[in-house]
Amino acid sequence: MKAVVGLLVMLLGVSHGVESHCDGRQDGAHCYGALGGTVVIQLMDRASEIQRYQWQKNKTLIILVKKNKIVSNLMEKRSVFTPSNGTFRINNLSWSDGAEYNLRIIGSDGKESKYRTLQLTIQAPVSSVRLASECLSQGEMRVSCSSEGGDSPQYSWTLDGHTLTDDQLLSGSKETNIITLNQDVSGLLVCSVRNHISSVSKEEKISTCAGIVIYFTWKKKYKKAETSTVPPTMVHPEDSFAMVEL
Ligand SMILES: *[C@@H]1O[C@H](CO)[C@@H](O)[C@H](O)[C@H]1NC(C)=O
Ligand SMILES: *[C@@H]1O[C@H](CO)[C@@H](O)[C@H](O)[C@H]1NC(C)=O
Ligand SMILES: *[C@@H]1O[C@H](CO)[C@@H](O)[C@H](O)[C@H]1NC(C)=O
Repeated sequence: MKAVVGLLVMLLGVSHGVESHCDGRQDGAHCYGALGGTVVIQLMDRASEIQRYQWQKNKTLIILVKKNKIVSNLMEKRSVFTPSNGTFRINNLSWSDGAEYNLRIIGSDGKESKYRTLQLTIQAPVSSVRLASECLSQGEMRVSCSSEGGDSPQYSWTLDGHTLTDDQLLSGSKETNIITLNQDVSGLLVCSVRNHISSVSKEEKISTCAGIVIYFTWKKKYKKAETSTVPPTMVHPEDSFAMVEL
């Protein structure tokens, strides 16, 4: 499934150029990269003073640096490690790059002075967000938001730039992909779908009670017409009485 989605994303060319940045200086950091995109990981502050260090992917050595010189880089063809600022840039990410990595820093006495791990998760970017709306019998509206491709999509909604209020929502919450809006809700509705490496939104002008608005307007006009005939009967109550009598 993931492979199929990945292929689709590659064919659409969606993830090319998606670049994410991550601070990997804390032990246990969790980084995210886009499938086919680039991740820039800050592995350390400044590496130049460190005698020797190595970055491994689950026991496999990826980078080995000794005295500020890169001795080996297994990802050489698609990555750039810059010792002077400690950043590691990996291009053209694939699913297999998603793994646990660890950094070992060896001090000048030859002993390990630091060890920290980093989790890299690869996600397919969100694409093709669609909105579909359906009017319900009481003038409410059900709106569903769907997306393709993205891993772990998270949904959020706004109306004219504000989050939806409980008064506007009949069911669903601000985080679900299907919501039901109450009557009398109108404005620019935006559904945003995001995961850790991408965000796409779709907007639609909505008005949940167009039919009811027309009805009220018509009723008001009708009432006005009615009242205009009423005053004469009020002004001349006898006439109306006579009329009724007739
Ligand atoms: C790490 O490697 C071990 C053995 O080499 C393997 O059993 C394990 O599944 C690997 N873990 C990951 C996350 O790839
Ligand atoms: C680190 O150095 C590389 C190569 O000079 C540069 O592209 C990158 O922007 C630098 N990153 C930081 C965080 O300074
Ligand atoms: C990216 O990686 C895939 C395999 O994962 C490879 O087929 C493709 O040629 C690579 N693209 C670039 C621009 O290096």
